[in-house]
Order: sequence, then structure tokens, then C-alpha cells
Amino acid sequence: MASLPEHGANPALLYRRLGMEAPAELIDFSENVNPLGIPRRVKESWPALIGSLAHYPHPDGEPFRSAAAAFHGVPPECVMAGNGAAELFAILADRYRGKRALLIHPTFSEYRSTLEAKGAHCLDLVTDPSDPAIPLREIMEAMETADVVYLCNPNNPTGVRIPEDDLLRLAGRGRETGCELVIDEAFMDFAGEEHSFIPHLSDHPHVTVVRSMTKMYAIPGIRLGYMIAPEERIAEHRMSAPHWNVNGVAARIGGSCLLEEDFRQRTIRYCTEAREDLAAFLRQAGCRVSKSETNYISFRPPGNPGALYRAMLEKGIVLRHSENFRGMDGNWLRAGIKEKWKMDRLKEALAGWFGGRSPL
Ligand SMILES: Cc1ncc(COP(=O)(O)O)c(C=O)c1O
Repeated sequence: MASLPEHGANPALLYRRLGMEAPAELIDFSENVNPLGIPRRVKESWPALIGSLAHYPHPDGEPFRSAAAAFHGVPPECVMAGNGAAELFAILADRYRGKRALLIHPTFSEYRSTLEAKGAHCLDLVTDPSDPAIPLREIMEAMETADVVYLCNPNNPTGVRIPEDDLLRLAGRGRETGCELVIDEAFMDFAGEEHSFIPHLSDHPHVTVVRSMTKMYAIPGIRLGYMIAPEERIAEHRMSAPHWNVNGVAARIGGSCLLEEDFRQRTIRYCTEAREDLAAFLRQAGCRVSKSETNYISFRPPGNPGALYRAMLEKGIVLRHSENFRGMDGNWLRAGIKEKWKMDRLKEALAGWFGGRSPL
């Protein structure tokens, strides 16, 4: 299937590219934001936020930057706020201009696009999406010739989390070989903050952690993320960012999102339950299922995945294709975890496909 959109969350473009008519009612499982929606504090503060429109925002994204620093117990000078994690990846890539970056596939496609746009050379290690263990030995070997390794933890599109011990070994290897690590924790909130690498950063100055606020807090429309690294590197990255890169509304919303501990716990509980239910259903239908700890799951259906993908689109069920995920190559599909009635509709549609016709 050629020329499908690079990312999910754009069903209109998807149907247009495929030359298909979009049904009147669609459920978009191709995007990965929190099914519980926007946190209460954000909704309540909304009317007051209009006041910030008439002022230039703080150049460092305050008060959000300090709130994120306090949340993780790191100095504010070690935090840079960005217009979504996506902007921070574009900025980070400046550091690796002309250098070699190791990517572990299947993974988020923006690493490659941002790195290549800045003239970095990408080295690709392709892994089996159904194997939850990362190939530690191969990665450590490849780190010898790489200047940086990008790790998505938990990974998009599999949702698999790299265990802390493995990360510490990779960080140790990076120190020996002079290979930096960029750890993308955009979906870490769904696995649990206790798995974050951030508390280890002070012992590993060659590691940068990138976080997104848009997934857990369902605010992709407003754009907000941050990265944490030693102060000198943050100062270097600040030079590549446009002035006022974080808008004033996002900078005020972000801090109140971080106060939402109960919301985060409710989200984790809901997503875990819905994900395990969907995984069991898919396994029973003969699919291979990724060992996700996030708000999405990837699966390889028996038979023809492309035909299943299109059949679901005809029913208004929009899954995420895997055409641009190396190692998945269109054979896997990703489904975001949504509200219960939507999950029921997904299972019903899939059951019709698996049970009702030959999947071959
Ligand atoms: C793994 C991963 N990292 C980062 C991002 C970018 O997130 P943001 O919305 O904060 O730009 C995404 C967006 O889909 C993602 O999937």
C-alpha cells in the first residue's frame, strides 16, 4: 500500500490517499491519546487561560519548566520545554549533524526524519516485534560505531518497555564507547513513572530523556513536551530553538496536568484492563500480539493484514497501518485503547472478520 500517511490520527487524509469514501461514522484507533480525555483541572482552568493570549509567553516555557523540574526532582536548568516532543527531536538532531545514529526498529518514524533532515547518518537494527526482549548484545555491538542510540521506551508501535537493568547496561556501554543515548519516554506515563530513567540521569550525563505531555493528558492539539539533560547540553539545545517556542497557554496548562496523580492512576488501571482484554481476544483469534505496557497494542493477524485493514476502514474502524515501521512492513496493525464502547465495536468488527470469512 503506497503513500499512506506517515502518522496516525488523520483519517480524512488516509481515506483520500486510499481512494476510499469515509463512512459517516468513524472510530479512530490510529491515534494514541488518553481515552479518559482531558484532565479536570485543565477543563476548569480553561476560561481563565484566555488572559494569557494577550502576552508573549516566557522564553523558557515557565511556569511549566519549573513544574516539570520539581515533578522529577531535577534543577530547572536541566529541563527544556518544547512545542511537543516532536519539536525537541528536531532540535536534538542538530547535535548529531554528520554523525551516526543507531535506531532500533520497529520504532517511531520521526527519529529518522529529524536526524536525516540535519544530515545525520542512520544505522538500522531491525528486531522481531513479537519478541519482547531487546537484542542487548547486538545493540551493544552496534553502539561501538554509533555516536548516539535512540531508544523508545516504551516503544511505539509495540508498547514494549525496556527493563531498567537493560537500560543501565546500555547506558554503561555508551559511557565506554562514547555513544550517547536519547531515551524517548513519550508513553512512560502509561507504564508507570517508577520505570523512568530520569532518576539515573545524574549518573549518566551522556543520556537525554524526552517526555511528551500530549499523550497522557490528551492535549496533542496544544503541543507540549520537555527534555532533561545536563545543563550545558540544555543550554546548547536552547540555541537551536526559536524564541517563545512554547505558547503561553501550554506553559500554564502543563503544570496543572502534572498535579493529576489520581487521573494518571485511573488511566493506567483502565488502559491495562482494556489492553489485556483486547490482547486475549486477539490471541484467541490467532494473532501475534505485542507485549504492550501502554495505551496501544500491535498485532499480526493471520492471513492478509492489508485486506483486514481495508475491511475495517470500510466499517469506519481506523487502525494504524505499519507500512512505515521497519520490521512490521505492513504485516502488523496497531490499535489505540479507547473508551469501552469503542473497544466493544472494535472487537465486534474484528470478530466478524476472523469468524465470518476466510482470513486467507
Ligand atoms: C514515541 C513518540 N514520541 C514522541 C512523539 C511526539 O509527541 P508530541 O505530541 O509531544 O510531539 C510521538 C507522537 O506520536 C510518539 O509516538
